Parts: sequence; structure tokens; C-alpha cells
Amino acid sequence: MTVLYKIPTGCKKIDEILDGGFSLKKVSLIYGEAETGKTTLVTQCAVNCARRGCKTLFVDSDGTFSARRLFQITSRDFKDISELMILMKPNNFSEQAIVIDRLKDYITESFGLVVIDTLTSLYRAEIAENYKKTFELNRELNRQMACLAQIAKTQRIVVLATSQVQSLFNEAFVVTEPIATRVLKFWADTIIAMRPTENPQIIKAILEKSPKKVQPLTCHLKIDETGIHEYLT
Ligand SMILES: Nc1ncnc2c1ncn2[C@@H]1O[C@H](COP(=O)(O)OP(=O)(O)OP(=O)(O)O)[C@@H](O)[C@H]1O
Ligand SMILES: [Mg+2]
Repeated sequence: MTVLYKIPTGCKKIDEILDGGFSLKKVSLIYGEAETGKTTLVTQCAVNCARRGCKTLFVDSDGTFSARRLFQITSRDFKDISELMILMKPNNFSEQAIVIDRLKDYITESFGLVVIDTLTSLYRAEIAENYKKTFELNRELNRQMACLAQIAKTQRIVVLATSQVQSLFNEAFVVTEPIATRVLKFWADTIIAMRPTENPQIIKAILEKSPKKVQPLTCHLKIDETGIHEYLT
């Protein structure tokens, strides 16, 4: 079996600065507004993981995973790649907790990646139903992140979590931050923010945090039929 060192995103500049891609034993966060390519990017990582002979457990918490999109991204080796992807669809935040708690039982040596897309969608749905439980749900989200960090470390895999954003008023202007900002940013080793531009196909990606601690890196990405890739302006 091939030894996995990193999982590339497939976006050249980001992979260069991450020394080949997302790190094993760490949790990384990709956050941004709707339709900014988060699912496309993590699907691409699952494809790159499969092309290195390793399995992905894809937790589709917002029910948006599309086999058609996977087919577009993989094309010729769709069958081989889909065989290395296991999909789970929790229906509520408690089911997501169960999936995360049991990861240690599913994740064997043949796995390279766990994706949770979108980690905060069921959390947000539950808060919308019962605002009074916010503190408790926040604590549970923190517990899930701690579990993911532990699994990443003990099983030597990459964990990728995605999150949508909330708008916060910061003195004179509005900033977008991931939902449950403090919890997610605390546990994430690498953070990529995906920002929309005037052209819906072009995304501004900001590498906010990386193990190398370089200045935040900004680059443009283009979403098309084949996935999401570097776009030179
Ligand atoms: N075949 C394709 N060709 C070009 N663009 C596509 C194709 N398939 C999807 N897209 C575009 O990709 C974008 C959606 O990407 P994606 O689902 O990865 O975003 P997301 O950030 O995960 O969104 P959400 O927050 O809603 O989950 C949309 O703008 C859509 O138009
Ligand atoms: Mg998505």
C-alpha cells in the first residue's frame, strides 16, 4: 500500500504553500458563504486521497453530496474512486455525534481522510429550533471537534471540516466568520476562507492559517465542470 503523506487540494498555489496539501494527524477547516466551492474542494481532496490508494469517509451532514459532481471531477476513474469512498448521512445533530463517536471503530489503516460537510449545518438547525440550548449545543460541537482532532492524531488521517458563515458587526463594518467561530478556529490547524466575487465561478480563497505560519495567502480559484482550480487573474 502507498504511504500517504499529504492530501492535495488540486489548487496549485494552496498546495505549494501547504507543502503538498493538507496534513495527516490534523483537522483543517474550509469555511465560506453558500456556493463558494467548499463541497467541490473537499470532494476533490477525497478524489486525490483515492488516487493515492486510500479510503475516505465522507459525512454528508447537509445532504448535498452529488455522485454526478463526483463523476465530473473524476471522469475516467469514477468507478475505482467511488469504491474508495464511504458516504454517511446523519439526519440531525445527535446522529452526527454518533457518527463522530464511532469513527474510531470504522477508521482502519486503509483510510486517509474523513470529511464532515457541513459540520455546522445540523448544529445550526438545532439552535434554530431551540435557542435556549445554544450553550449546550456549543459544548457538544466542541466535543465533536475534540473527537475529530483525536481521531486525526491516533489514526494518522486528514480530517476536513467545512462550515458556512455568519455575519458579525465589527465596529464600522461587517465581517464574515465561520459559525461557532471560536470552537472551529481553536481546533483547526489549517484554515481556508472561501469568499465570493462578482463572478460566481471565481472564488477568492484566503489561507488564513497554516502550519508554516506564513502571512495570509490570497489566491483566486475557478469552479467549473472539472472541479475547482487555481485561476490566474
Ligand atoms: N458542472 C459545473 N460546472 C460549473 N460550475 C458548477 C458545476 N457544478 C457546480 N458548479 C458550481 O459550483 C458552485 C457550488 O459549489 P459547492 O457546492 O462546492 O459550494 P458550497 O460552498 O459547498 O455551497 P453550500 O454552502 O451551499 O454547501 C455553484 O456555484 C455551482 O454553480
Ligand atoms: Mg457544500
